[in-house]
Amino acid sequence: MKILIPYYSRSGHTERLALRLGAELGARGHEIVLEKIEAVRERNKWLLVPPLLPLLPWLPLYLLHAPFRRRWLSRYRQQEQDIKPLTHPDVSGFDLILLGGPKWLYIAYPVARYLNTVSGLDGRKIGAFATFCGPPLKVFELEMLFSPLQDCIRAKGAELFATLAISSSHHPFFWFGELEALFRWISKLAFKRPLSEFALDSEWGQGEVRRFCESVEGVAVEACGEVWARD
Ligand SMILES: Cc1cc2nc3c(=O)[nH]c(=O)nc-3n(C[C@H](O)[C@H](O)[C@H](O)COP(=O)(O)O)c2cc1C
Repeated sequence: MKILIPYYSRSGHTERLALRLGAELGARGHEIVLEKIEAVRERNKWLLVPPLLPLLPWLPLYLLHAPFRRRWLSRYRQQEQDIKPLTHPDVSGFDLILLGGPKWLYIAYPVARYLNTVSGLDGRKIGAFATFCGPPLKVFELEMLFSPLQDCIRAKGAELFATLAISSSHHPFFWFGELEALFRWISKLAFKRPLSEFALDSEWGQGEVRRFCESVEGVAVEACGEVWARD
């Protein structure tokens, strides 16, 4: 299969995951094309924060109350950021797209712009991968990123068939790694496991990469079956 891997990465962690996926799927015989999504101008990290602040006073309610959460995720204002011209602005020639980016509370701004820029998404199958600092918390990390991402993908007529999320243990805020320390503590509290056990090179991380690549293989087998049935 011809697979496009478009990814955005501000500090290199998602890029490392994109390259790992490319290598793994290339070794399985797929044709891999990487597309690095680049912001026209990288903003100062503090300028990324204001659009994320409206949730803060509501965070406890968000975490505890599923109906509020669903309403919030369907209505919040997703920020976008200008990106440089793409090498592959039309993705209709690819069998599969694996889109990656860091979690910026929700979808990273350049990734949101990418989805509104490329053409040819209609009818495509998309796998989404991400890195974030924390452990794979179901509500705060996974759902908060992949639920709006799934909505954006559906709005383009495409289908999200698999997700992959890996902890980078890296957070640029605030000054002395305060949020990294918080996520390390949350990992021990919620999972009884150190945050490093959810990293790319951990046994868990390698298992997740394998699981994601096997979902891709599943789509490849399905596509072959369809061609065989047509012929
Ligand atoms: C504006 C902003 C918001 C972020 N929000 C989250 C978050 O909600 N949860 C989290 O675990 N990490 C969060 N992070 C940390 C990044 O997701 C993490 O560092 C990621 O691995 C960076 O990937 P990159 O190196 O590919 O840019 C945030 C980072 C930024 C800059």
